[in-house]
Amino acid sequence: MIYQPANYLDPLDWRILFGREAPVEIDVGCGKGNFLTWVAGTKPEHNFLGVDRQLVRLRKVDKKVKRAGLTNVRLLRLEFTYLIERLIPDASVAAYYIFFPDPWPKRRHAAKRLFQPAFVEQLRRTLAAHGAVNVATDNSPYFEQIVPLMTASVHFNAESPLSLPEEARTEFENIFLSKGDTIHRARWRKK
Ligand SMILES: C[S@@+](CC[C@H](N)C(=O)[O-])C[C@H]1O[C@@H](n2cnc3c(N)ncnc32)[C@H](O)[C@@H]1O
Repeated sequence: MIYQPANYLDPLDWRILFGREAPVEIDVGCGKGNFLTWVAGTKPEHNFLGVDRQLVRLRKVDKKVKRAGLTNVRLLRLEFTYLIERLIPDASVAAYYIFFPDPWPKRRHAAKRLFQPAFVEQLRRTLAAHGAVNVATDNSPYFEQIVPLMTASVHFNAESPLSLPEEARTEFENIFLSKGDTIHRARWRKK
């Protein structure tokens, strides 16, 4: 279901959004939703939010979610930086999946990348204790920016990246793998 908050000023109430209390996991830039539908199907006891700025993509995900009969998924069309800064309550997220975030390869566009010091601080603020940040990207320069940013934060410990089966791959991952690109993966856990 593509969720429309009553307003875009008050923090979200996960219990109202999902109709139950359960750990909340967020797929940031969920794209066409292959990973989101897979992970939500494997963990019916968790709540999953898929966020993307593109409505056409979310409509496709919505169809996939309905076809799969998943009741633990909600979708939100919103700029993620606004969502995390303004609407996600403190210490309320069990995991973030940030798979193939837009790399903005041109130097003059680097400020548009999600990963910035202020974003890492919002990850810290919103994650529950022992919550995880999972990252995957094909873009080496972006990965080389993300790792020191996360490592510089005293609030996170690095862990082995998630090992996922083939059917969990995202649409972009399949494209990059078919081209023979290297995929960089990482995971950090809030202390
Ligand atoms: C490169 S695609 C990756 C999609 C998906 N994670 C995958 O791996 O197939 C990036 C996605 O993130 C979305 N996106 C990028 N920046 C965003 C932002 N700031 N807020 C919300 N969505 C964003 C784009 O619309 C796009 O669907």
